[in-house]
Order: sequence, then C-alpha cells, then structure tokens
Amino acid sequence: MTTMRTNKTNIRAAVSHSIRSNHSVRVAMLIAPALVLFSLAAGCVRGVPSDKPPIHIVSNMDSQPKYKPRSLSPFFADSSAMRTPAAGTIARGSLRHDSVFYWGKDGDGNFVKNNPLLLTMELLTRGQERYGIYCTPCHDAAGNGKGAVFKRNAGLLPPTSYHDDRLRNIEDGHIYDVITHGIRTMQGYAAQIPVEDRWAIVAYFRALQRSQNAKLSDVPSDQRDKVK
Ligand code: HEC
Repeated sequence: MTTMRTNKTNIRAAVSHSIRSNHSVRVAMLIAPALVLFSLAAGCVRGVPSDKPPIHIVSNMDSQPKYKPRSLSPFFADSSAMRTPAAGTIARGSLRHDSVFYWGKDGDGNFVKNNPLLLTMELLTRGQERYGIYCTPCHDAAGNGKGAVFKRNAGLLPPTSYHDDRLRNIEDGHIYDVITHGIRTMQGYAAQIPVEDRWAIVAYFRALQRSQNAKLSDVPSDQRDKVK
C-alpha cells in the first residue's frame, strides 16, 4: 500500500515538474483562458450580435487609410474625396489628337474627302466582315436598304439606299460620322465598332457603291468579253 502511494506521488510530481519546466506550455495555459474571457467580454462570440466593429488581432493591410470613389472627406471644402480633374485633363490612352482619324474631320471641322487608312485588300476584307455583322440586318448585303429588319415590315422608316448620287458623291468623313454618331433615325455604332473598323467599313461601303454602279471600263480589258 505504502509503496503504491509513494509511486503515485512520484509520478504526479514528475509530471507536474515537467509541465512547469516547459515554458511554452505554461504561456499557452495562461493565454487560452485569457482569450476566452476577452472574447466573451467583447461580445464577439459566434452568434452573438454586436454593434462594435470586429476585433482584428492581426489586421495586416485589412484597413488602409485611403479614399474610395464617392466617399466623404472632411479635408476638402466640398466634403468630397473625389477631385475634379484640372480643365483640359485627358485620361491616359484617351487622347484623340488626330481629328481626321478619330472624327473624320479636318482642322476646320469639315468632313475629309478620303479615308485616312491605306486602302488594302486586308482592310476591305475586314470592312466586308464588319459590314456583314453590323449593317446588313438593315441595309442588306448590297446596300439597297432592304435588310431583314425592314423586310419584316416592322413599321420603321426604311434605310437609305447607298446607291444614289448624293451618297456616291459624299465625303468618306460623312460615312464615318454616320457610323460613329448615327443619323436621324439610325443609331450610332461608336460603342460597338472601334475606330479602325469604322474606316474599314467606310472602305467597303465605297466598294459596294462601285459594285452597283460599275462601267465596262472598270473591268480589266482582258476580261471585258466575259461581261459583255
Ligand atoms: C437598325 C437598322 C440599321 C443599322 C443596323 C444600320 N443602319 Fe444605317 N440607316 C438606317 C436607317 C433607318 C437610315 C435612314 C435614317 C433616316 O434617314 O432617318 C440609315 C441611313 C444610313 C446612311 C445614310 C446617311 C445619309 O447621309 O443619309 C448610311 C451611310 C448608313 N446608314 C450606313 C450604315 C452603316 C455603315 C451601318 C453599319 C455600321 C449601318 N448604317 C447600320 C438603319 C440602320
């Protein structure tokens, strides 16, 4: 009996000694209940509602002293954190300095006669493809203004045919402007068609006009016999 009790006492002493001698275990034993008490006192236990902001023990970069768009700022007289850019400011990449390319107009504001892009087969093919996507539903593949939309007789004003003298003699800049801003009942396509593609369509528009108004002299001489 006596021996057994002595053994138990020895084991308990040895265990408690080893625990006490282990510094990190001791610290953990102190911190754990402290954390529990702390979170209880702060009311931040799961499921317990609180009006206070959450406690961030390690906040890292969660809160950054910066302004977000449309936030308030006591620093500026108008209380707005967003500042109006100085007059004439142009956002990076938004400079439209080339008036011919971007607006189809010369320095005096008149429509340019000719397409500023180099007329290549590649440009025409691109224009044909884009025309097929954006314009044929109304203007049809040949530009007669009898596209599917109007064939269904939706009660809309039919599109203009491309093949009248007024449009044959009009500047390339005007056609570019119609694609960009629309005209009367036709809407503009600036949002859908990038600038370069608009000029490609202008080039193809001219090819379409030519195709419906060609003279025999337009055909290469060695092939005229086939057409006659
Ligand atoms: C949703 C139908 C629709 C689409 C798509 C459309 N148009 Fe039109 N377009 C019209 C209508 C309608 C008119 C006639 C507008 C009027 O006179 O009120 C017109 C007129 C025009 C004119 C004549 C402008 C003038 O000076 O009278 C041109 C050129 C033209 N469109 C080019 C295009 C090109 C190029 C595209 C493709 C990028 C295009 N349109 C796409 C409906 C359309």
